[in-house]
Parts: sequence; structure tokens; C-alpha cells
Amino acid sequence: MAEVGTLHDAFLDELRDTYDAEKQLTKALPKMVKAAHSPILREAFESHLEETRQQVERLEQVFESLDEKPRGKHCDGMAGIVEEGKSMMEEEFDEMTADACLIAAAQRVEHYEMAAYGTLVAWAKVMGHTEAADLLQETLDEEKAADEKLSSLAEGGINQDAADAANEGAESADEEEDEKIGAGAGAGKRPARRR
Ligand SMILES: [Fe+2]
Repeated sequence: MAEVGTLHDAFLDELRDTYDAEKQLTKALPKMVKAAHSPILREAFESHLEETRQQVERLEQVFESLDEKPRGKHCDGMAGIVEEGKSMMEEEFDEMTADACLIAAAQRVEHYEMAAYGTLVAWAKVMGHTEAADLLQETLDEEKAADEKLSSLAEGGINQDAADAANEGAESADEEEDEKIGAGAGAGKRPARRR
């Protein structure tokens, strides 16, 4: 009978996947730093980049604690999320909307990582890998904090600024339409306002 993998094998697989995911992020985050318009958002991405580099090192410590060589395995999930973020950055949005979109993309990343680290912590604990569990928990806490920080930036002004810009855009479009009507034949008839 062929040998089947154990939870320990699955754990190592997940670790390698996450190691690769974090490395992908160390390349994607500098692009997000550059793309961010709001200085506080840029700062948040910069500090998460620094944190992510430490998380890569922390995963190396986890491998060491298990007497394993740090090794990555291509993480398709993170590659997909990063790819989606990239195409969002290529869209032409007003600055406020672009920042709101960057936060949306970054939060997808955080939630994906929280799911991965949540599983890793649980599996490390159940197999008695206490040192690994503690290290992984540290990163899980950082990811949660990064996610909360992004929510507070979005809800603390960036989303509202984007919404205000959208309303202003709609109003000036209405005005333009009104002017056209004034110059043309249609006195008296006004189009329904877009909201
Ligand atoms: Fe991370």
C-alpha cells in the first residue's frame, strides 16, 4: 500500500505555501506603497512591508524549530490575489477611489493570511509543536492588527472621501447637462437628477 501523508506533512506543506505567500508580498507591497496617495495609507503599507519581512524570518525560525530547511512552494492563492490587486491598480480611478481600492486589495491579502496562520497555529498546537505555535501566533496577531488598521483607515475617512468625490462628480455632470439644455432648445424640461 502506498504511504499516505500525515497531518505533519500537511502542516509542512501549508508552511511552505505560506512562506512563499509572504515572499510574494514582500514584492507586491512596495508597489502598493508607491500607488497609495494618502500619506497615512502609504505609511501603513510601509510598516506592513517591514513586518512582512520579519514574518518571513519568523517562518524560517518555525522551520528550524521543526528541524526542517525553509522551503517555499508556489502559493497560487496569493498569486491570484496579488494579480487581482494589480489589475485594480491599472484602472484609472480618482485618487480617493484608488486608495479605497488599495485597502480592499490589501484586506483580501490579510484575510487570506489570517486563514492560513489560524490553521497553522491550530495544527502546531494539536501536534505539540509549542515553539512553532507561539511564533505563528505572533504573526497571526500582526496580520489581525494590520487588517484592523486598514479598516480604521477606510472607515476613518478614505471611503468617505471617495464617496464625496463620486457625489461631486455626479453633481458636476448634472450641471454640465443643465448648461447644455440652457444653450439648446429645451427650456422648462429638466432631466432627472442622477444620484
Ligand atoms: Fe504576512
